[in-house]
Amino acid sequence: MSNTEQELQMTRSHALFAEAQNLLPGGVNSPVRAFRGVGGDPVFIERAEGEYLYDVDGNRYLDYVQSWGPMILGHTHPAVVQAVTEAAQHGFSFGAPTEAESVLARLVIESVPSVEMIRFVNSGTEATMSALRLARAYTGRSKIIKFSGCYHGHADMLLVQAGSGVATMGLPDSPGVPVETTANTLTAEYNNAAEVELLFKTYPQEIAAIIVEPIAANMGLVPPQPDFMERLRILADLHGALLIIDEVMTGFRVALGGMQGRLQVTPDLTCFGKIIGGGMPVGAYGGRREIMEMVAPAGPMYQAGTLSGNPLAMAAGIATLRELRKPEQYAILERKGQLIEDGLNKVLRDSHISGQLQRVGAMFCLYFNEQPVTNYTQAKQSDVQRFARYFWAMLQQGIYLPPSQYEACFISLALSDEQIEETISAAAHALAGER
Ligand SMILES: Cc1ncc(COP(=O)(O)O)c(C=O)c1O
Repeated sequence: MSNTEQELQMTRSHALFAEAQNLLPGGVNSPVRAFRGVGGDPVFIERAEGEYLYDVDGNRYLDYVQSWGPMILGHTHPAVVQAVTEAAQHGFSFGAPTEAESVLARLVIESVPSVEMIRFVNSGTEATMSALRLARAYTGRSKIIKFSGCYHGHADMLLVQAGSGVATMGLPDSPGVPVETTANTLTAEYNNAAEVELLFKTYPQEIAAIIVEPIAANMGLVPPQPDFMERLRILADLHGALLIIDEVMTGFRVALGGMQGRLQVTPDLTCFGKIIGGGMPVGAYGGRREIMEMVAPAGPMYQAGTLSGNPLAMAAGIATLRELRKPEQYAILERKGQLIEDGLNKVLRDSHISGQLQRVGAMFCLYFNEQPVTNYTQAKQSDVQRFARYFWAMLQQGIYLPPSQYEACFISLALSDEQIEETISAAAHALAGER
């Protein structure tokens, strides 16, 4: 290929982005895709296979975004493609019950013991929003507690400025969210159960639920400190509130039983998304039978969806979970995760750059930060300019990372040891220029 041809090709993503910006706000359908966190234009993807993404200019990338989590088997896994193809031949949507919904429900229920019944929806946002409505219906209370830096989708009541003060009253994080909508949203610092205790003391009998990411993965990757989740369980019980664990990101990623299984903390309700749809638009909320039986039409709490339980989405989810239930899959992911962690830690040591590699299983984050990150306040002290330079240096070497310091990287079963080595060498090269 001549240089001129290459240059022409290299402009296709730019051209498509320029066009898209006239048609879609910011050129995208979800903000982080626009690369604002790192500057510059996004690459437009044409197709994906295994661990690779291919852009419209013919470039190939090792994919550490994984569609933000769902593609744990790698892209276009044959079993998933076959299941979806067969389902498509039978019809796209009926708006009527199908057996596939029960099959996927059973797969989730068998894997996650706290879930006795489940309701499928179309996104993680719908799952958390509905679970909170259910918690409020069940307890007859209005207030909820969320944690700074935790993201639970874009429902009004959850779009609250991450504040670190004790007993901070929720202030809307976006125009268009009325103050009244977030007035019942209380925030506490992640990994700080004492703040939660104080909120319960300040608002006795008023708090319906605590909603928490069991690994905070929307501010990079912050694991729960020992006892944090356990104390939330105890506090919720003590004060008659429900504990909602948002496993949209972690469910079926860090273990079949999710992070709650690894920690042995039993929530009242769990939210799912991403992997349970195998890349199709799916979310779900589930939990104790007695609570779930309040959901319409079994009970009075209304929640519905034209496309909920969609047959293609169920087929993708079933095929994905069946693959994940094969022996050793999570041990394989753990081994790959460890290789990346060891490799990137060595790169950091060799380059004398302050960085923190934080990882749980098949998800990790490299923070350019002097200190280990345990909450949002600390996460925000990361060097985002350095991250942006690192991001572009990696992309130029064919490694596609999430375009923000505050997003987690994901690995899939398709990632080979050679590809991990390639990634580590690319990181060494990227950081060599930083010294
Ligand atoms: C923990 C968590 N909850 C909820 C959501 C919202 O899911 P969705 O984007 O499918 O609405 C996300 C999205 O990344 C998430 O990470």
